[in-house]
Amino acid sequence: MGKPKVVLGVSGGIAAYKACELLRLLTESGHEVRVVPTAASLNFVGEATWAALSGNPASTEVWETVHEVPHVRIGQSADLVVVAPATADMLAKAAHGLADDLLTNTLLTARCPVVFAPAMHTEMWEHPATQENVATLRRRGALVIEPAVGRLTGKDTGKGRLPDPAEIYEVCRRVLARGVGEPDLAGRHVVISAGGTREPLDPVRFLGNRSSGKQGYALARTAVARGARVTLVAANTALADPAGADVVRVGTAVQLREAVLEAAADADVVVMAAAVADFRPAEYAGGKIKKKDGQDPAPVALVRNPDVLAEISADRARPGQVVVGFAAETDDVLPNGRAKLLRKGCDLLVVNEVGEARTFGSEENEAIILVSEGAEIQVPYGPKEALAEAIWDQVAVRLQPRRA
Ligand code: CTP
Repeated sequence: MGKPKVVLGVSGGIAAYKACELLRLLTESGHEVRVVPTAASLNFVGEATWAALSGNPASTEVWETVHEVPHVRIGQSADLVVVAPATADMLAKAAHGLADDLLTNTLLTARCPVVFAPAMHTEMWEHPATQENVATLRRRGALVIEPAVGRLTGKDTGKGRLPDPAEIYEVCRRVLARGVGEPDLAGRHVVISAGGTREPLDPVRFLGNRSSGKQGYALARTAVARGARVTLVAANTALADPAGADVVRVGTAVQLREAVLEAAADADVVVMAAAVADFRPAEYAGGKIKKKDGQDPAPVALVRNPDVLAEISADRARPGQVVVGFAAETDDVLPNGRAKLLRKGCDLLVVNEVGEARTFGSEENEAIILVSEGAEIQVPYGPKEALAEAIWDQVAVRLQPRRA
């Protein structure tokens, strides 16, 4: 088997320079990349850069090497087309089927998965014309990843930034692995909590846990690649924002509950992967707690935190909403898991056995997915991404068909 063939379309926005990094990640991981820039994008990054980095010619027009019929051949032979950055103009052209240069011709002839990574000013992104074009492209099966929020050209900040190239690369890798076919979570809103809550004792101390957030982030990345709109409620994580996910940062269990409930109001799926503290200090000391000579420390009184998973399961914001919980167990993993599934009232419970050296912070995981009707799916030890895919497979079969 030859190398997977990727077309990297680059349209005319300042973020074009970030596509150099995406190109490098793709070529270094064994992909054959053909860069197809628009004429406007050459104002930002020149043809020589694309040719040198990809090892292939980078033409913008259909009138070069006409005998090779590039306007048809490049699209037909691609395994993936990714347009990064995709400007408002490019999205409009693609949505309306215009074909006035090599990239737009390629988009019409491609039968492989197509990923658009838009980047533009917030006003342009939010304009109804752009939003309708995005909806059209998504309806036709393209994966249009939500822009990131942050610094834009000039002094502005807002939604419209091109996500981190490494994260766009992650989306490409996963879409390539899944191959052709409509993304099965397209049109779905999924809410994922990740990380571990911290319950402050005083301004410098907290009660926390060892959750890294990696499993929740793997769930977010895989859901984006399967077409979902993703809200990631992240508690105290130090990981790069997944491309395409709306990230809401929280600290405590109470804040996490608020953010999850708000996002869950129109969600098709809620996955509680966060390690939520069951208890918080009853009192918060406004100043740092000092030790006192010759005195034992005062005991720390704790109070219960709300159980977000149980609350969401009992009071579903929408009919048919699928709720997934996690359980970390050290002993009697299966019986404890079954009892917890019943107690929490969720549809699926992902149970993993934890210990000092297992699971926390690692790239790998092993779990059993317990289904409320009684089935158990054993997911062997492997990347957290593989467990995430197995969870989405189970979620996807439970989702009710969308009304047309
Ligand atoms: N969870 C939650 N709110 C809490 C505590 C936990 O939503 N206050 C969720 C977690 O996100 C996870 C699941 O509940 O999806 C399991 O959490 P776990 O701490 O293992 O369960 P507990 O009910 O605390 O059971 P136990 O302490 O007996 O293990």
